[in-house]
Amino acid sequence: MKIVKTVAEVRSIVKEWRKEGLTVGLVPTMGYLHEGHQSLIKRAVEENDKVVVSVFVNPTQFGPNEDYEDYPRDIDKDAVLCENTGADLIFNPEPEEMYPEGNCSYINMTRLTDVLCGKTRPIHFKGVCTVCGKLFHIVGPDRAYFGEKDAQQLAVIRRMVKDLNFDLTIVGCPIVREEDGLAKSSRNTYLNEKERVAALVVSKSIFLGREMLEKKAPVEDIKKAMRDLIEKEPLAKIDYVEIVDMDTLLPAETEADTILCAVAVYIGKTRLIDNCIVYFN
Ligand code: PAF
Repeated sequence: MKIVKTVAEVRSIVKEWRKEGLTVGLVPTMGYLHEGHQSLIKRAVEENDKVVVSVFVNPTQFGPNEDYEDYPRDIDKDAVLCENTGADLIFNPEPEEMYPEGNCSYINMTRLTDVLCGKTRPIHFKGVCTVCGKLFHIVGPDRAYFGEKDAQQLAVIRRMVKDLNFDLTIVGCPIVREEDGLAKSSRNTYLNEKERVAALVVSKSIFLGREMLEKKAPVEDIKKAMRDLIEKEPLAKIDYVEIVDMDTLLPAETEADTILCAVAVYIGKTRLIDNCIVYFN
């Protein structure tokens, strides 16, 4: 497995693969890889001849007071995980390679990016869409793999690919959880011992939401029950508890086809997200 840092190197390697008629999967990541990312890489390895993992902490998706500088990084450990999971190439560019001096082009979506996480992170999805659009152009994959943990990101990227005619398939992969239920996240490393225990309220609220959705309880009752549960935990502060249609991200009633039940909760200073997707048809 190779690690390259430039767009030109990725392009020339992928060009050779294409000459041999091979298919290519892309797993975009910000590194500090855990079993959640590993499940995406495994799926990509199963479904494609070659797999590229991008490892890039993308500065344009972090707000001014967010954790860009502190975001955990460990490319050596990431390389071992990628190699052991069967990836063929890591693309690990510097910010200057992705955003050369004078860069002023961005992909700015509307509507889907204004709700849920977009309310408190107004520039986040502009950065995510821009970097994913660039990665799709650089690698030119047949398929790109995203975790359902970032369900809004998945809905946004699917819509961007449709709206802007990108020629690839977006594959969503299920959330991977710790044994006690907490969704795997690179940001879990920010939690101290007490906060790690308190964080369980996040997944518990999602499990409660799923149970009530499956029983077709009214949406407002479900959201209230979830909020009540989270509010019992003194270290938790709710950003949002929402029940929306998975495709449009608009408020859903329990008769919608696919419902996304999503929360964002601060545990101390760490903002955690979690969700479940419930299919009715
Ligand atoms: O989900 C992530 O880690 C990031 O948002 C992504 C998709 C790699 C873009 O930087």
